[in-house]
Amino acid sequence: MFDDGTTSREIEGWLCETDGARLKELWRLADDTRRRHVGDEIHLRGIIEFSNHCRRNCAYCGLCASNSGLQRYRMTAAEIVEAAKKGAAQGAKTIVLQSGEDTYYDAQRMCGIIRRIKSECDVAVTLSIGERPALEYRAMRDAGADRFLLKHETTNRRLFQKLHPDDDFEERIACLEELKSLGYQTGSGNIVGLPGQTIEDLADDILLFRELDVDMVGIGPFIAHSRTPLAGYSDGSSELALRVIALTRILLKDVHIPATTALATSDPGGRYKALQCGANVVMPNITPVKYRARYEIYPDKAESLETPERNIARIRRMAESLNRPISTGYGHTLKHAV
Ligand code: 5AD
Repeated sequence: MFDDGTTSREIEGWLCETDGARLKELWRLADDTRRRHVGDEIHLRGIIEFSNHCRRNCAYCGLCASNSGLQRYRMTAAEIVEAAKKGAAQGAKTIVLQSGEDTYYDAQRMCGIIRRIKSECDVAVTLSIGERPALEYRAMRDAGADRFLLKHETTNRRLFQKLHPDDDFEERIACLEELKSLGYQTGSGNIVGLPGQTIEDLADDILLFRELDVDMVGIGPFIAHSRTPLAGYSDGSSELALRVIALTRILLKDVHIPATTALATSDPGGRYKALQCGANVVMPNITPVKYRARYEIYPDKAESLETPERNIARIRRMAESLNRPISTGYGHTLKHAV
């Protein structure tokens, strides 16, 4: 049904499929592929949203620089390390450091934080801090960062330009290539249901994930934020996002795919469903609760006021009910030796 020659047309067919029996087949194939290629383990990646300052104006994102109604915050290095330690004590074997594009955290600051986390906790470190010069990526890799997430968001160049007035698609892809060549395990991803996005665009996104040969793919539905230029547009469909997850699993096979918070926000059962159609990663939020409400990428973010302990306990129960173990390993890429 699927192979290396699978075309964009075939993917589009699945994204538009209306036959319930065929869809069941899709979910089953995605779940089988997940089991065969990455196993039953669910990896916990504790995410620390350490700054909501951003120099960019991505049209969909509540952190965009033009949103003057947002109270901005920056966590200190000590707060970040403390949060990482707490996450590690709860069983997270990866700490994800995510922020807006905030140059206050220059390479030197970031390197100090990475070194401290790597020496004080037994974890892998993933960065999700946007586009930086190659030299900075190199310094942070040398400091011990293992992975980097930089979603391309949409493959449609015209839509990318419209939604990212101060960014460039080719630049983003060049950053991903640079990160790969520096030895980072890299992640891309997209937003499903952006205004103006077509089914063809989504098929191209999936084919680009494959072409980029990334180690991780994050997929979530668009959720409109009232203080952005996309205020008032319809949200993306969570069911369509699940199809993109399933097809990405089937076509890329051994990548790590999170059941994203955006999915959990648009459908309370979204995470559970994602874990059954391709996803094998969950990213509990381990940001100190006092900062949570201010990291408002989109509104009503799921679990945004739940403590890390409760959040992780709930994820453990969810894994148990799926009869899937929580991994005790780092959950590095399965594509090559690390
Ligand atoms: N809806 C859905 N996802 C969003 N992101 C940012 N804003 C939104 C939104 N309004 C996603 C982007 C980014 C990640 C951190 O959050 O894909 O890469």
